[in-house]
Amino acid sequence: MERTLIAVKSDGVQRGLIGEIIKRFEHRGFKLIGLKMVKPTEDLAKHHYIDLKDKPFYAGLCKFTSAGPFVAMCWEGQNIVKMGRDMMGETNPADSKPGTIRGDLCVQVGRNIIHGSDSLETAKKEVALWFKPEELIEWKSCAEVYTY
Ligand code: PPS
Repeated sequence: MERTLIAVKSDGVQRGLIGEIIKRFEHRGFKLIGLKMVKPTEDLAKHHYIDLKDKPFYAGLCKFTSAGPFVAMCWEGQNIVKMGRDMMGETNPADSKPGTIRGDLCVQVGRNIIHGSDSLETAKKEVALWFKPEELIEWKSCAEVYTY
């Protein structure tokens, strides 16, 4: 079973979209196993986006992220890394199709409300960066509980 990091960025929190984003992942059938609201340090934000360190928007993105709040979530499910990215839409909301989170809920690339790990390898690193092992809770869904 795959796990991924999905986060509501501060613009998504400020716009009251935490519930909408959680709803979409729950309704799709994924399982939330870790959830926390944080105001990340600038070092943590820089670490999270380290692969973008040479991009012109890196400093601004890290500052924006560390201003918080940032709602970090660990979701679990079959193909969650790819399916989560598909649900999010493209990086630039202008290229995102209606029906996707960014296609329905935002306009600007620098205010694209959600982050999702882009590969299984990144997901492992990002989940470990934002969550201690004991902060991830394994639980059974109704379907699993009532299987005789
Ligand atoms: S890129 O530009 O090829 O690196 O694009 P991508 O890999 O899809 O995006 C990586 C993260 O950079 C964010 N991004 C930006 N932030 C602010 N301003 C601009 N112009 C910008 N372009 C890309 C993008 O949203 C990705 O962050 P997350 O948090 O994963 O969405």
